Amino acid sequence: MDEFYSSSEKLLKFIEKSPSCFHVVNNISEELEAKGYKKLSENERWELTLGGRYYVVRNGSSLIAFHLPSKGYDGFQLICSHSDSPTFKIKSNPEMEADKKYTKLNVEKYGGMLCAPWFDRPLSVAGRVLVKASDGIRPVLVNIDRDLLMIPNLAIHMNRNANDGYTYNAQIDMCPVFGDETAKDSFLSLIAQSAGTEKENLLDMDLFLYNRQKGTFLGAQEEFIASPRLDDLQCLYGSLQGFLNTEHPKNAVLFCAFDNEETGSVSRQGAASTFLQDVLKRIQFAMGNTQEDYLRAVASSFMISADNAHAVHPNHMDKADPVNRPQMNHGIVLKYNANQKYTTDAVSAAVLRTLCSAGDIPLQVFTNRSDMAGGSTLGNLSNTQVSMRCADVGLAQLAMHSPYEMAGKKDTYYFEKMAALFYQSRIKVTEEGVFIKE
Ligand code: CO
Repeated sequence: MDEFYSSSEKLLKFIEKSPSCFHVVNNISEELEAKGYKKLSENERWELTLGGRYYVVRNGSSLIAFHLPSKGYDGFQLICSHSDSPTFKIKSNPEMEADKKYTKLNVEKYGGMLCAPWFDRPLSVAGRVLVKASDGIRPVLVNIDRDLLMIPNLAIHMNRNANDGYTYNAQIDMCPVFGDETAKDSFLSLIAQSAGTEKENLLDMDLFLYNRQKGTFLGAQEEFIASPRLDDLQCLYGSLQGFLNTEHPKNAVLFCAFDNEETGSVSRQGAASTFLQDVLKRIQFAMGNTQEDYLRAVASSFMISADNAHAVHPNHMDKADPVNRPQMNHGIVLKYNANQKYTTDAVSAAVLRTLCSAGDIPLQVFTNRSDMAGGSTLGNLSNTQVSMRCADVGLAQLAMHSPYEMAGKKDTYYFEKMAALFYQSRIKVTEEGVFIKE
């Protein structure tokens, strides 16, 4: 067993126990607690000390952890990734009856998924519910940890054009079957039971579908991994491990996981919210610094926006840029876009290149074909709230936004290594475009 296998094996285990964004944040919290990180509340006064390790959660689905150096700092160094993935959200009053023979669930799309691979496979339900408690209302995590639902395809005999480019209608085609007619009125009881309460105590819910198929290694040499939610949990997990392994940072370092990237980051807890700015300001003020000090620190800061990238596709090689063609297992992907969907510019790229070269970490480049529009991610949206130098990176993968994606076994390790090196280095800005690495 090598370091590549071991990193990706741990990643697959992390993904398996993280079926929703709420579980992702809960599992990150547990790893932070085990390393002595102290949970802060946004509702209470923060008492911070140099050398301290802390984390804050917003909405149960976004998390920012930070580790202050023991000697003082001049800026922040952070890696941001996202906790959410495209899926289907279960609507209120979820049950629908079909021909008095089936009970199905009413769902709506969350994010931009590939629809076809959601069909004909066991699915289940996870998320959070709000329950009545003696002292008010409390959130409870729920995971129905068994094969529960399926979205059955229409047989080829009844849809002869199914293989000629079918347009899926989310309201008609995508409702999962929950049971036969006897399942009527039992879904909320099942959820309540799983939350350890009665149906009457269930006030509301944020529940999502998830694919039950577990992650695996595949390929002639087991060089690939396949799993649900690799976008973006591969980057999230890699940056978390790099962060946790940093014992003595030389700058104020942060690990950030934001919810709602898949719907555009605009929410109370998304990358375009004030969450990051609020946390950075509160760190500064709790340390006795001023607004002026906050602005100086932001000007001296460096962010890595981490979200998976497209590998060149074996059956669609013409979809990639003619020159910059990322390959799985070939390391960190630096993403560029002239229209600023990605934040990478020559300055931030130069920092990343220096870092990866110092750590002997392979680096490759992604750009869209010039005649194709690509996606967007965290960095440029986060910069609308807190404007700092930023590079966009990712790991090469295939089948992005399918409920079962494919990536490179080695790349999880490369990301952990890059993240650890980034968090351990002091990237000091002396003037515009000039960095000194300590
Ligand atoms: Co992503």
